[in-house]
Amino acid sequence: MSEAGVNEPAVNEAAGTVRVVFTPSGLEGRVPEGTTVLEAARGLGVDLDTVCGGRGICGRCQVRPGVGAFPKWGLDVGVDALAAPGSLETDYRGNRPLGDGQRLGCAAAICGNVVLDVPPESQIHRQVVRKDVALDALVLDPPIELRFVEVDRASLDDDRAADERLADALADQWGIDEVGVETSVVPTLHAALEPPAGDNRETVAVTVALRRDGTGGETDTGTPSVAAAWAGFVGTAYGVAIDVGSTTIAGHLLDLTTGAVVATAGRMNPQIRFGEDLMSRVSYVMMNPGGDAELTNAVRGALDELVTELLDDAEIERDRLLELVLVGNPVMHHLLLGIDPTPLGAAPFQLATRQAIAVPATDLDLGLPLAQAWIGPCIAGHVGADTTAAIVAEGPHRSDAVQLLVDVGTNAEIVLGNRHGLLAASSPTGPAFEGAQLSCGVRAAAGAIERVRIDDATLEPRFRVIGVEQWSDEDGFDDALAALGTGVIGVCGSGIIEVLSEMSRVGIVDRAGVIKGSLAERSPRIEAAGRTFAYRLTAAGGAGAGDEPGAHPGLRVEQNDVRAIQLAKAALKAGIDLLLERAGIEQVDEVRLAGAFGAHIDPEHAVAIDLLPPAASMSSPGNSAGSGAVRLLLSLAARAEIQALVPHIVKVETATEPRFQDLFVEAMGFPLAPVGSEGTTSGRRRRSRRRAAGTS
Ligand code: FES
Repeated sequence: MSEAGVNEPAVNEAAGTVRVVFTPSGLEGRVPEGTTVLEAARGLGVDLDTVCGGRGICGRCQVRPGVGAFPKWGLDVGVDALAAPGSLETDYRGNRPLGDGQRLGCAAAICGNVVLDVPPESQIHRQVVRKDVALDALVLDPPIELRFVEVDRASLDDDRAADERLADALADQWGIDEVGVETSVVPTLHAALEPPAGDNRETVAVTVALRRDGTGGETDTGTPSVAAAWAGFVGTAYGVAIDVGSTTIAGHLLDLTTGAVVATAGRMNPQIRFGEDLMSRVSYVMMNPGGDAELTNAVRGALDELVTELLDDAEIERDRLLELVLVGNPVMHHLLLGIDPTPLGAAPFQLATRQAIAVPATDLDLGLPLAQAWIGPCIAGHVGADTTAAIVAEGPHRSDAVQLLVDVGTNAEIVLGNRHGLLAASSPTGPAFEGAQLSCGVRAAAGAIERVRIDDATLEPRFRVIGVEQWSDEDGFDDALAALGTGVIGVCGSGIIEVLSEMSRVGIVDRAGVIKGSLAERSPRIEAAGRTFAYRLTAAGGAGAGDEPGAHPGLRVEQNDVRAIQLAKAALKAGIDLLLERAGIEQVDEVRLAGAFGAHIDPEHAVAIDLLPPAASMSSPGNSAGSGAVRLLLSLAARAEIQALVPHIVKVETATEPRFQDLFVEAMGFPLAPVGSEGTTSGRRRRSRRRAAGTS
């Protein structure tokens, strides 16, 4: 006999027992008549939630009893299989109303054979399904659990301190022994354990948030600690997952009990004023004593503002936010933690630590009195916690297929492999793919050109801009653009890839990347620009492809723009090719192009200009690092998984690898073949797929 008097599944029809089946788990057994559903679930190991411990307060234990014939289980269930609701159920007024046809599991007594469905919202380890953040197959396993307890009130006859009374209540009512109370919680205990005015009961109702580590790492003590204590019943606690990018910082506020995203916000990283790219920020630190503290203060200030915005948006008190997950590249990681980043600026590009770090949020100057910040593990000096988070999200290590995961920012992080092993590298692509340092470049925003086609015969362009449905040569384009109110502001990264792919396809640029001046005789779109030539996309003065001259210089692709993209694409492709060579892999099965750049890019054009290798599956998962941070916030299993994986990821250092230079030169060229045809890619080798041998 196990807990609550439940027999194991054997169908032995002892007198006074009834058979109970739980779905969707299929767990079943016999229980004495009168056993509550919650007791039966606990005894059979069924995943049925409870915060209040069966006091009819939280509403987490709801189940739906089935009625009728269940041939699969050989059961005929009557309407009276559960006893009629008693006062605990009829008086229930919790903030999770009883669902249609549902009963409170802690109150409903089992009187006959019964089949009980546990809906997803009543499961502790339910699968999280969200469309705005990619969380496929994530099972909720957060570091925070809530427990409602009745704590003995203070009296002259009881000399136990508040923390001791709380620990005793947890041991008695939940069987949780040796619980520690976090130092930050101690000052709040008197208030939490203070009986409400006029309440003369001998106990005080308190909700405790327990923090588990469970990752098996250094911080994992094996026993939970009290992370918060609040007076009365509290049904939710919150966490924030933040991707600390060098350009933007983006965060999600989540309900840790359901996995629901309750607010999302982002802002520019204020460190940009110290340098656009990471290395210029490291240089700033090298050349300015105290510069590291300035950069640390800047990013911490932005994080505090971001968290404040998230909490204000959702109208949530600061003491309800208990967990933060922060991911970022190694320079961001070091600056965030107040670690000097200068060793990351020169060979051997040494990290201060590769390990995940857990610190009180107050150590990072965040005004969150009870929160703990968990900063993900890094792989190497140029491959940081943002990449490990992207790996968590995209799961190349969980797959048989060979995956190429690329996250393009001012650096491109590249991960290659499958469940047999992973390699990682970072390539210095620079800011060109983000539209920076190009005469016509802008970040992806309303009014930016994102799609381009060039007519083979006339060399006339047509294009689409972000925020307008129609192409520039379609009816309604001018009106829609006028309604957008921005005009055509420039060409974003994906638009640049397309325009260069098209210029290459129709022969405006040659294989070496030179804009052919000879075509000026054929088309007025080819214009002299000093000693080189340019391709005109939009006429001066016109917002669209119109011809009226005016004050606006219009947009054109200049020779220097082609060069900048050529260098960026060569850096990315050389990094990819280096990993392919190292892994002995000749073809990848899937390419995942993460990040804002990847979100808009047309993979066919990226392959056409030899930016990416061809693959059977190509996708743009969006902000993988952000999705990974959310997973790491909601799942201790995900934290344990990535911490175990990181030491086995093989880092390839592009900055010191001589072969990288050869591959870089090889990847500089532009192919000259139609988009979508076989053999469009320069240097593309027909490779037979092999397993990711040598990567493990
Ligand atoms: Fe809380 Fe049933 S366990 S209401």
